[in-house]
Amino acid sequence: METIEVNLGKRSYSIYIHQGFLTDPSTLNSETWSRYFHKKRLLIVSNDTIAPLYIEQVKAFFKPASSIDSVILPDGEQYKTLEYLNHIFDKLLQENYGRDCVLIALGGGVVGDMTGFAAACYQRGIDFIQVPTTLLSQVDSSVGGKTAVNHVLGKNMLGAFHQPKAVFIDTEFLKSLPVREFNAGMAEVIKYGIIWDIEFFEWLEQNIEPLKQLEPAALIYAISRCCEIKADVVAQDETERGCRALLNLGHTFGHAIEAEMGYRNWLHGEAVAAGMVLAAETSQHLGWVSFETVQRISRLISAFELPLVKPKSMSANAFIKHMQRDKKVLDQKIRLVLPTQIGEAVVTSQVSHQQLIDVLS
Ligand code: NAD
Ligand code: GLY
Repeated sequence: METIEVNLGKRSYSIYIHQGFLTDPSTLNSETWSRYFHKKRLLIVSNDTIAPLYIEQVKAFFKPASSIDSVILPDGEQYKTLEYLNHIFDKLLQENYGRDCVLIALGGGVVGDMTGFAAACYQRGIDFIQVPTTLLSQVDSSVGGKTAVNHVLGKNMLGAFHQPKAVFIDTEFLKSLPVREFNAGMAEVIKYGIIWDIEFFEWLEQNIEPLKQLEPAALIYAISRCCEIKADVVAQDETERGCRALLNLGHTFGHAIEAEMGYRNWLHGEAVAAGMVLAAETSQHLGWVSFETVQRISRLISAFELPLVKPKSMSANAFIKHMQRDKKVLDQKIRLVLPTQIGEAVVTSQVSHQQLIDVLS
């Protein structure tokens, strides 16, 4: 089992990464068990796709808790709203859950973000544990404490920073994940190589097939490296005043694509993939990276059948309209994360609207 620490003083926690430990609770020692679950009242939050596949197994894993129940939400980004968040609060209140209960997020980023936000709000803050089941949530959303729901006027606009008490990552979950969702998660994996770690980028280039075949050793290495990088970034900048913004490489372009094309017509990771190519092309336009670097980034992204170009129907003006609503906008200036080489990136507001229009056209 790999264990990675997220060092945040009193809010520090561990990420446990293993193949198959949900079917073998003995991989966790009793001290770890009692730290998190002993005599605790647990409530699993999941959705109606994941629960039929895994909830019994997960309930068995958490058996030593004093009681365990579940609340099942409908599956989909469209239910990541205050209205459906209330289903969690209804259950907690109707059944008199106290402040010492623990929420367990069993699912992808949608379930994780909603459960985390419910935990941040209920009785002014209770504990929660992430059990992420998509590649994207295993390498990104389950770590770092960003929690949220959507508002009709904007994605993730209502939320809080609330760190989990632990993250349990079992690579076995990925066997039932649709390939398209796996590939979307790979966009976030590649992101870490581009912004932070050229050696990891090179390792990814050399391990495309083992990753696609879900080989346990390759998956565990890739997930662990991503979690290490994210833990490092979050420990330096928990609330995104500085370097945490680098984790948004490709996201400003990507969010614009998702908003314009409809969430889940383009998966988040797919939009981020095209967004990372646009970010690299913007860097090339500014003379910061070479054509060869853009090509190299594009080659790795396309190895996972991810899109390299923006939607044909989407104009430069449509991009700019959405990009002006980005959470990174400061003094009304669009701020972009751009690579300066593979393994290094910066946040910049130096790109003019005209330069953006040139790249997007
Ligand atoms: P998701 O949670 O919608 O999951 C994708 C689909 O896969 C869903 O239909 C889900 O039910 C299904 N699924 C999940 N696990 C499965 C499994 N093991 N087997 C079969 N099907 C499975 O999407 P996602 O890509 O995991 O997360 C996207 C969400 O995460 C977005 O709402 C985004 O805003 C959020 N996000 C948050 C952060 C953060 O830091 N908090 C970071 C990135 C993304
Ligand atoms: N997914 C970006 C972040 O956690 O900051």
